[in-house]
Amino acid sequence: MEVIERVDTIRERMQTLRCSGKRIGFVPTMGALHEGHLQLLRASVQENDITVCSIFVNPTQFNNPDDYKLYPRTIAQDTELLKTVGCDILFAPKAEDVYVQQSLLQFSFGPLEAVMEGEHRPGHFNGVATVVSKLFHFVQPHRAYFGQKDLQQVAIVKQLVQGLSFDVEVVRYPIVREEDGLAMSSRNKRLDAKQRQTAPSLYGALQLAKQQLGNKPVYSIKAAVEAYLSSMDEVQLEYFEITDPDTLRPLTNVQPGQEVALCIAAFVGPVRLIDNMLVNLNEV
Ligand code: PAJ
Repeated sequence: MEVIERVDTIRERMQTLRCSGKRIGFVPTMGALHEGHLQLLRASVQENDITVCSIFVNPTQFNNPDDYKLYPRTIAQDTELLKTVGCDILFAPKAEDVYVQQSLLQFSFGPLEAVMEGEHRPGHFNGVATVVSKLFHFVQPHRAYFGQKDLQQVAIVKQLVQGLSFDVEVVRYPIVREEDGLAMSSRNKRLDAKQRQTAPSLYGALQLAKQQLGNKPVYSIKAAVEAYLSSMDEVQLEYFEITDPDTLRPLTNVQPGQEVALCIAAFVGPVRLIDNMLVNLNEV
């Protein structure tokens, strides 16, 4: 596996590969890799000639300085994992090379960023859109792989690609969970033993809501989720929404046959976690 740090080097390398007719798959990450990332990498290796993984803890998408400072950085272990899944190129740039000058660009995603992560993490999607645009320019992929774990991020990236006419196909893969249901996340590494035990309650809340969908009104499902999580030690609910799976607009009522996305964010101790579940109301 090639490891490239410099932006001008990756640009040149990718230009050559593209010109020689190679199909490029790209998995952007912030590292501390786990099975959620690895499924994206395996899919890319299978579907493309060349797979590039980027590891870059992007400072502009963190609205909380502690979260940025404490974000796990495990590059040596990540490099070994990437070799085991057959990744061809690891791109691991330095912040000063990605942001030669401070970016003053402001993106607007309309209603999509007014809710959930957009509402609770001001500037977050602006940072994501900025770095994903830069990475797409550097890597020039044909196809880019994202996880349902960050459902709103996928919607934002799709809108970005459409709005700026990037010639990239965005694909989404399902959430990978631990055996107890906790969605895999690099931030899980920051949970202490007790917090790790209560963290699956986010998934528990989604399951509770799924059971009640179609039988109870939305406001009462939301109240049940709040009550369930308030009984958990060290869990502080930030939001729970039942949303349209495409626009992510929160719904106040649901119809038989409808598809919805249940979305949740909560602090477990000091660590902010998110999760979601796609549900078809015909199947509940
Ligand atoms: P990161 O959190 O490292 O995630 C990289 C990719 O892995 C994202 O597309 C994310 O949705 C996916 N992923 C993470 N955990 C997952 C899980 N349990 N199951 C399935 N997919 C999972 O998302 C980012 O980095 C950054 O915002 C980035 C896009 C790299 C821009 O900086």
